[in-house]
This record gives sequence, structure tokens and C-alpha cells, in this order.
Amino acid sequence: MHGFSYKKGSLHCDEVDLNELAATHGTPLYVYSGGTIIDHFQRLDQALSGVPHEIAYAVKANSNLSVLRLLAAQGAGFDIVSGGELFRVLKAGGEAAHCTFAGVGKTRAEITYALQQGIYSFNVESEEELLYLNQVAGELGLRAPAAVRVNPNVDAKTHKYISTGKSENKFGVDFEAIPELYARAAADLPHIQLRGLQMHIGSQLTSIDPFIEAVEKVVPLVRHLQQHHAIEFWSIGGGIGIVYQNSLESGSAEWWQSRSASELPLTIERYGKELVPRLKDLGLKILLEPGRYLVGNAGVLLTRCLYEKKGLAKTFKIVDAGMNDLIRPALYEGHHEIVPLTQPATAARVVVDVVGPICESGDFFCQDRALPDFHPGECVALMSAGAYGFAMASNYNSRPLPAEVLVEGAAARVIRRRQTLEDLIEGEA
Ligand code: LLP
Repeated sequence: MHGFSYKKGSLHCDEVDLNELAATHGTPLYVYSGGTIIDHFQRLDQALSGVPHEIAYAVKANSNLSVLRLLAAQGAGFDIVSGGELFRVLKAGGEAAHCTFAGVGKTRAEITYALQQGIYSFNVESEEELLYLNQVAGELGLRAPAAVRVNPNVDAKTHKYISTGKSENKFGVDFEAIPELYARAAADLPHIQLRGLQMHIGSQLTSIDPFIEAVEKVVPLVRHLQQHHAIEFWSIGGGIGIVYQNSLESGSAEWWQSRSASELPLTIERYGKELVPRLKDLGLKILLEPGRYLVGNAGVLLTRCLYEKKGLAKTFKIVDAGMNDLIRPALYEGHHEIVPLTQPATAARVVVDVVGPICESGDFFCQDRALPDFHPGECVALMSAGAYGFAMASNYNSRPLPAEVLVEGAAARVIRRRQTLEDLIEGEA
């Protein structure tokens, strides 16, 4: 569910008219529903209520300070992947003691910064990294809290670029090698404090099966580690998928209620119902690292149609957002529903490509898709763009980054101003 729907013929985010926001702040424009983010956080929290847990929001999905602040106020911890993300969390009022630090390539500077700030755990991705962490912590006269990421060799059945839990992926340590590595750390690495175990098998999982398979495979390993080490948490990662195909309709509770279980994507209630019983007897704190689930359906990218170009083979609607603003279609063939801000008067459709201004053929938001017609000057929303949207935006083609607006009820606030041309050359000689 989410806060985007037509009201009086115009698409709204909660109580705010998106046509008005586009007119006031210009386009391309990211708009987020604070209410949706909070609702998703609370529903996940509720779904896991049967087990001691902490939700560590995966900052990479959307790292705007105001989004982080909103989640910190809900009691979220944070899963970070760089010193930059830790800096953002601290600036937003989050606590280092509730941060876990993931990623295969942590640098000395990042490790030092995170140690000095006192993060909860380094989620270590290789034996080499564990040795290095021990060394750096030793030099600082500290002990580094750590968990190793286990690669359970489970197929997440998602796009190959966002699948992380198979042996051929660069992530984590092979399942079979974990007990020996923990034994070695306990015996030989005095500056490592083994605190937990971590896993993450992939992103945008729309079936519960890979989650169950991974949890069932790793539970015996967790029990083994508990017997030999004082571990206190198991992070089962993120990866909960969201609705992209019926994004607008899925905003309402009725849509979810009108579908049979087999037609529905993974619901958060199902996620909790299947996983909690498999986790609750462990006596460990369960960490979750959701990114997309919390913010994905809570954001849209507004863009205005500049031109309509009818070629021999196709009709192109050229809009003012490009792949630099939202790269998911180009990079993962990601589907984002495209919805006119002014509610279409009829059910008529035209088959079009919606493309951006960037000088690349991969710069499209859809190809050969049947959409309600729209014309130059009119705006559309690219739905479900709250996760990995702005966060992956770039200045490619020297295009200033779009502004971001956070809606809370009837109030809309700019949470990042649009970049200027001067911003583009800042720091250059
Ligand atoms: N934990 C770890 C260790 C991760 O690598 C990730 C995502 C997450 C948690 C959060 O996963 P989520 O709950 O958001 O699925 N840019 C891609 C997604 C990349 C995900 C990378 N890792 C996209 O736009 O689909």
C-alpha cells in the first residue's frame, strides 16, 4: 500500500497535488510519501513482533537525510556500506551503535571511522577482511565487533545483477568455511569480537521460497556457532520485493484484499508468518536490512513531456528525466509504471517508447508500452522510484540532480534542492 492515488482528477501524494508540486518545484522531481515509509516500517516491525528483532534500514536505497531522520525517529537502525553512509546517518541523528557496516571492500579510512564512532558490527565479507579488521583495530587499541556474512549458495531467483547468495557471487564466505573461520578468529584474532552472523541472498525477491530455503539451511550453522561463541545476533538481510507492475492500483488496501494468495506478490505478513516460527527458538536478536520495501513504493519521479516524435517504426514521448535520474530500466530492465498526473478521461491507450534526453539508446523508461496518451507540457509519474532512484542518480551529460520533496500529510517540504549549474563544476580546477 502507498499514498499515491487520483483525487479530483489529479494524482496526489497523500494530501498533496502532484501537478502543483511539479509546477512549483519544476521537473524532474522526486516526491516521497512520509506516511508510506512509516506505515511500511511499522508493518514490518509488527510482522516480526514474535521474535526479538531490529530493523536496520539499508541506507543505499535512499540516503536523503530527511528520510534517514524519519526512520531514526521510528527506532530504525541502519545498514551502511560506506563511510559516506555512516556520515549521513550520524548527521541525520542516527546512532552508530545501531549501525551495521556491510560491503566487500572496506578501506582503512572507513574501518577507522566506523571503529571510532562505535558501530554495532562490521559485517565481514572475507577472511582477508577479517584479518585486516583485526590489524586496524589492534593499531587503534580497540576491539572490532564483527559478524561474518555467510554465502548460503541459495538462488534468490531475481535479476542476476541483484542476486548475491550464490557461490559465484562476490559476496560473503562459503557456508562450509564459516565454523573454521569463527574458530580461528576466536583463537588468533584478539581485536575481533564475534558478535553475530549475517546473510543477504539478493534483492527484489517476490517469492518467500528462497528466504525459507536460506533460513532453513543456515539455522543449523547458527546453532553450531552459538555453542562455541558468544554471538548475540543473526542478520537475515534485506531483499523483500515490492510491486512494480501494478504500482498505482496496489496503493489501496482493496487491491490487496481482492487478490487470491497465488496472485499476490510476497506480503510482509507472509514474510513474518513463515520466518518468525523458524527463528524464534534461537534466542538471538534477528536483524533485518530492508531497503526497497521501506521506501520503494513510497516515492515517484515526476517528469514533463518535452516532445512527441513519430518515427517510421515507433512513437517516442521525450521527457525531461533521463537514465541519469533513474537508471533502473537501463541497468536492470526494471519496470516502472508510467502514470499521467492528470487522470485520463478515457481508457484509450497509445503504444509508445518513453525516453529521456541522454545520448544513449539505453535511455528509456519503457519500450512499446500501451499508455494513456500524454502530450508536451504534461507531466507523468514514474512510480515506485523511492528506492535506488535518486540514490543511483548521476550528473551524466552534465545534468544537475533533481530536487527531492517529502510529503507529510498535507505538507510538502523540499528535502534537497535542485542542483544548479554552478554545483556541477564545484571542486573542479
Ligand atoms: N543488505 C545488503 C547486504 C545488501 O547488499 C542490500 C542490497 C540490502 C541489504 C537491501 O536490499 P533490499 O531490501 O533493498 O532489496 N540497485 C538495485 C538493488 C541493489 C541492491 C543491493 N544490495 C535495484 O535498483 O534494483
